[in-house]
Amino acid sequence: MAALASLLLVAAAVHSAGCSPRPGAGLGPAALSSEHEFHFKSWMSQYNRVYDLEEYYYRLQIFIDNKKRIDQHNAGNHKFTMGLNEFSDMTFAEFRKHFLLTEPQNCSATMGSHLMRDGPYPDSVDWRKKGNYVTPVKNQGPCGSCWTFSTTGCLESVTAIATRKLPLLSEQQLVDCAQAFNNHGCSGGLPSQAFEYIKYNKGLMTEDDYPYTGRNGTCKFKAQLAAAFVKEVVNITKYDEMGMVDAVARLNPVSFAYEVTSDFMHYKDGVYSSTQCHNTTDMVNHAVLAVGYAEENGIPYWIVKNSWGPYWGQDGYFFIERGKNMCGLAACASYPLPLV
Ligand SMILES: *[C@@H]1O[C@H](CO)[C@@H](O)[C@H](O)[C@H]1NC(C)=O
Ligand SMILES: *[C@@H]1O[C@H](CO)[C@@H](O)[C@H](O)[C@H]1NC(C)=O
Ligand SMILES: *[C@@H]1O[C@H](CO)[C@@H](O)[C@H](O)[C@H]1NC(C)=O
Ligand SMILES: *[C@@H]1O[C@H](CO)[C@@H](O)[C@H](O)[C@H]1NC(C)=O
Repeated sequence: MAALASLLLVAAAVHSAGCSPRPGAGLGPAALSSEHEFHFKSWMSQYNRVYDLEEYYYRLQIFIDNKKRIDQHNAGNHKFTMGLNEFSDMTFAEFRKHFLLTEPQNCSATMGSHLMRDGPYPDSVDWRKKGNYVTPVKNQGPCGSCWTFSTTGCLESVTAIATRKLPLLSEQQLVDCAQAFNNHGCSGGLPSQAFEYIKYNKGLMTEDDYPYTGRNGTCKFKAQLAAAFVKEVVNITKYDEMGMVDAVARLNPVSFAYEVTSDFMHYKDGVYSSTQCHNTTDMVNHAVLAVGYAEENGIPYWIVKNSWGPYWGQDGYFFIERGKNMCGLAACASYPLPLV
């Protein structure tokens, strides 16, 4: 108990703050094996977590449940592996509340405007390797602002492809200013709607000039500091995954949305594929950026930039199975034409 007592009364880690109520009784120390506690404590020190005593036992139990799920998954025959990460002390309900889009978005372009060419397409494409076209992985923190990171990621890349200069663009401006286009700050939005905002607003500022806070704020856009511009928004027709392949192969990275379910929270590496998620426009709850695609052992996949920091998944990226509208990933894809 002495070691635990020293953990007392320090502020809870940022994304466990304000989470849902704890179960009253909880498990006492005697019921838990020291091996679990050993793993949990090394995880805590790796992720700089500090809890008060009550929260410690609550989080320990969740950690044990998550670890059990991860170990069971990894013992089975799957295309991807799971691992502990910074979310391993959270239930999926907590994770969803803080990191995902909770309401259905107006996702779907019945008739997109992307102009398809005929293939053939290269077997693999990776915009990270074609030149300096993709900025480092960012971290949205506990705010449902994934859509802003998908948007900046895509506009950064299309701007760099057009100008050879890779800007770092502001998510916070989108959080604070893009409401007129059905975006709701930390409570959700969509890349296509954010591109529309940037087009009508005549510009997006840089990350430096309009830094990320991860909270709803008032709009502080300054037109004279606008650094990237959108000429046109291109939506890809819903469920047209070949349209996404065409765009990524020939043009640029593409923003898309899909449904994150509890298995995805623990993704570590390999090609994510799920029977748990849905595939329709009304179920998407996360937006990301396809920066390429490839195939491994006969399984085609997308190479995707996420916004959960560089330590999640494969250095902040994940692979997801391609060609099946997996988890609705072809439900609402889009990209902007830059104005340069
Ligand atoms: C979807 O669009 C309708 C009509 O424009 C709007 O009232 C509604 O708020 C939108 N939903 C979301 C989640 O933005
Ligand atoms: C953030 O602001 C939007 C409107 O801009 C609002 O709809 C939403 O509820 C706010 N979310 C939070 C978490 O405060
Ligand atoms: C693309 O989608 C956005 C929002 O989802 C919509 O406002 C816009 O009209 C669409 N653009 C085109 C060219 O269809
Ligand atoms: C969604 O999945 C079901 C079951 O696998 C399939 O029949 C359906 O065609 C899929 N729908 C879309 C839009 O991908």
